[in-house]
Amino acid sequence: MAHSLADQISTILHEFDSRIHAATTLEQLETIRIHFIGRSGVVSSVMDALKQASLEEKRLYGPQVNTLKNHINEELERKKLEFITHLQAQQEKSARAFDVTARIWQPLHGTLHPYTQVIQELEDIFISMGFAVVDGPEIETAEYNFDALNIPADHPAREHHDTFWLNVPGLLLRTHTSNVQARTMRQATTFPIAVFAPGRVFRNEALDASHEFMFPQGEIMFIDKNVSLANLMAIAQSFLQKFFNKQDLKIRVRPGYFPFVEPGLEIDGQCPFCTQGCSVCKRTGWIELLGAGLIHPRVLKAGSIDPEVYSGFAMGFGIARIAMIKYGINDIRVFHSNHLPSLQKF
Ligand code: DAH
Repeated sequence: MAHSLADQISTILHEFDSRIHAATTLEQLETIRIHFIGRSGVVSSVMDALKQASLEEKRLYGPQVNTLKNHINEELERKKLEFITHLQAQQEKSARAFDVTARIWQPLHGTLHPYTQVIQELEDIFISMGFAVVDGPEIETAEYNFDALNIPADHPAREHHDTFWLNVPGLLLRTHTSNVQARTMRQATTFPIAVFAPGRVFRNEALDASHEFMFPQGEIMFIDKNVSLANLMAIAQSFLQKFFNKQDLKIRVRPGYFPFVEPGLEIDGQCPFCTQGCSVCKRTGWIELLGAGLIHPRVLKAGSIDPEVYSGFAMGFGIARIAMIKYGINDIRVFHSNHLPSLQKF
């Protein structure tokens, strides 16, 4: 018996020492603890055996079992502390390796479409000059798109508009923003009438780098007593100066024909990019920018305004065109292409 108790104690000690030596995790330490000093662990069974033993044996082996138990407890504690310290050190190390300046992937943000951006820019300019921004319908009657603008059914100018007619007789997709002219005149109750009307227009055109079947235009109309060409030119020049950010930008006026104005003008702006000619102005120093003129008396009449009392000017321009010039875009198709790299440049 004595021999066997002594054996047991030393076997337990050796087994414990080798297992604790091999342990690498806190979970393993817990398993070892339960196995050796848990309620029904191997040490408990030695103590049970000791209870049956003689007084002499108790004296001899009692202290040994106690020493064994203390050794196991101390070793477990020591190892546990060692593991925890090691774990903390590792955590600290990986925390230090975290680079707070590292690039993180940003969500892909949408932006306003270039047309929207340019229209907002134009609206700011015209509002600053006292104009109201108005809207016209994209589905229009032949009356407002043509007749009220002195373009009767047999007028050759209708041919040039490549109109998209709807299946409903008399309805079409507006071919220009000039459709707002008679509409605005008929609604006006006070003078002066000063409006800027941006919007989409439609033409059944073959597509190329400078032609789309849907593109934005801007229309400017001003009506009051004694409105002259001088007023028209002043507004045209200061609008172009603001839009191209060039305070001394000059304009040049040539005669042009549009059925709804008399006289009709083509207005060129001085090239904002060069002094003696570049590719943008095709080496001429000038860029064709606006159609304009004094509103034809017949158009005023169609808008229920007395041409004997009032006069006015109107201007129209392609918003895509001036945007392309200002931002160096050489293909109009980019705007509706969904080609992100081009659109994101804006
Ligand atoms: N409506 C014309 C077009 O689509 C542009 C235009 C020319 C508008 C002369 C005007 C104007 O108001 O006076 O090409």
